[in-house]
Amino acid sequence: MRIAVIGSGNVGGTLGKGWASKGHSVTWGVRDPGDRKVQHLVKETQGKARAASVPEAAKSAEIVVLTVPYEAVQDAIRSAGDLEGKVLLDCTNPLSPDLSGLTVGHTTSAAEQVAALAPHARVVKIFNTTGSGNMANPLYSAGPLTMLYCGDDAAAKKSAAGLAADLGFDPVDAGGLAVARLLEPFALLWINLALKQGLGPDFGFRLVRRGSA
Ligand SMILES: NC(=O)c1ccc[n+]([C@@H]2O[C@H](COP(=O)([O-])OP(=O)(O)OC[C@H]3O[C@@H](n4cnc5c(N)ncnc54)[C@H](OP(=O)(O)O)[C@@H]3O)[C@@H](O)[C@H]2O)c1
Repeated sequence: MRIAVIGSGNVGGTLGKGWASKGHSVTWGVRDPGDRKVQHLVKETQGKARAASVPEAAKSAEIVVLTVPYEAVQDAIRSAGDLEGKVLLDCTNPLSPDLSGLTVGHTTSAAEQVAALAPHARVVKIFNTTGSGNMANPLYSAGPLTMLYCGDDAAAKKSAAGLAADLGFDPVDAGGLAVARLLEPFALLWINLALKQGLGPDFGFRLVRRGSA
C-alpha cells in the first residue's frame, strides 16, 4: 500500500521502517526532509522508504498515519491537504505534560477530534496503546501482542488491521470510533505501568480467548 507517515519520531520512524521492510511504499511526511535524523532513517531502509514534505507525502498516499504530538495534530492535518477518501490512522495520545492524565477525553477523544478536523477522511484509531519498542517487535514468548483499533469505516479498519498484522500484532476490532474514549485512557495505563510502576517498555497486553491456542 502507499503509506504516508506524518512524523518520523519514535512511532513514525518505527512504523515506517516496519512497513517498508514488508514491501509497502512508505513516505515520511516531515517538516524538513533534509533533516539529518530523517535522512538517517531513510538510509536505514536501504532505499525502501523516502521522505518528503507533509503535503507531498499525503497527496499520493492511500493511507495517512498521524504520528505527531497531539498538540500538533491540527497543524499536521492542515499541512496534509485534501484527505478525502483516504484512510487516516490516528496514533496520537492527548497526554498532559506530566503524563498523569489526558487533555482530551472520556466524553470525546483525540480520534474524534481528528475526525472533526478531517471530516472526509476514514479515521481509524490504532497504534496508540503500546510503546514504540513493541511496534518494532510485538512478538513475546506467549505470542503476539494485541493491537486494539476502532473506527466507523469497515474497509478502513480492515486496512488498518492488515497493517498491524504485517508488523506481527494480533489486531482486535474494539468497535466504532467513539471507543477511542476507552483506547486513549488504556494507553495511559500502559504509560503508567512503564514509567511510574517501573515495568519499563518491554511488556504489553495480549488478549487471550478461552478454547484457543
Ligand atoms: N512514543 C511512544 O511509544 C508512543 C506510543 C503510542 C503512541 N504515541 C503517540 O504518538 C505520537 C508521536 O509520539 P512519538 O513518541 O513518536 O513523538 P516524537 O518522537 O517526538 O516524534 C514526533 C514527530 O512529530 C513531528 N511533528 C511535530 N509537530 C509536527 C507538525 N506540526 N507537523 C508535522 N510533523 C510534526 C516531529 O517532527 P520534527 O522533527 O519536525 O519536530 C517528529 O517527527 C504522540 O501523539 C504520542 O502520544 C507514542
